[in-house]
Amino acid sequence: MHKKLIVGNLKMNPLTPTEFGRYLDGLEKDMKGKRFEKTEIVVCPPAVYFRQFVERKMKDVKLGAQDVYWEYQGAFTGEISAGMMKANGAQYSIVGHSERRKYFGENEEIINLKLKAILKSGLNAILCIGESGEERKSNQTAPVLKKQLEKSLAGIGVGKSEYITIAYEPIWAVGTDKIPSSDEVLEAKIIIKKILTELYSRKAVEKMRILYGGSVKSHCAGQVCVDPAMDGALIGRESLTPYDFIKIAKIIDEK
Ligand code: PGA
Repeated sequence: MHKKLIVGNLKMNPLTPTEFGRYLDGLEKDMKGKRFEKTEIVVCPPAVYFRQFVERKMKDVKLGAQDVYWEYQGAFTGEISAGMMKANGAQYSIVGHSERRKYFGENEEIINLKLKAILKSGLNAILCIGESGEERKSNQTAPVLKKQLEKSLAGIGVGKSEYITIAYEPIWAVGTDKIPSSDEVLEAKIIIKKILTELYSRKAVEKMRILYGGSVKSHCAGQVCVDPAMDGALIGRESLTPYDFIKIAKIIDEK
């Protein structure tokens, strides 16, 4: 069985290297003496802090990127390629986060290009999908997830599937403190598994992890992650405080 995966997405935080240093101090302190037998822990800070992260040589916390650009190298001002993320210590990259879709106009075609670049560079991908509140209300969750998965994964063969983790993040739950019921998460997971099985194979899908993300806190990690037997969590706000982040990781690891 694969390990569970807990991912902290720090987004555009913290503001300074000094603050990030304090964050890492907290992470080291809160990880001390804790063993995560069944869980991988990944933190995705802004890329400007990668070196600082790597220099800590933390044994049990891996580094991830929040996004990549799909081209390999060249005149693309302001962008960072997947290969550069990898060469600077990342092992994972998030792709298709709802904030990228909303504020930066990313669509499935762009996400597909980025996903291919991530896999080609040797990084593991965390592909975010999820329906909006409107789509859920009008019973569109299944077709939306299907379209997102089919288009994002187009042209990516079964041989790469084990390097892809799906993060089910209902858009209405990201950053809002609204959360779905265990049954709603389980239902989405079943839909996702069915679509992936159609795209790949049952055997391949067994190796793919499906996470839940959107307002995960320690008091609701049971409801949204443990009860629906998710393979882990993608955590935004609560990952900004190492104590809370590790507390959630422990709850998920111990189940
Ligand atoms: P949140 O963010 O935990 O703050 O809701 C989740 C995410 O953006 O992945």
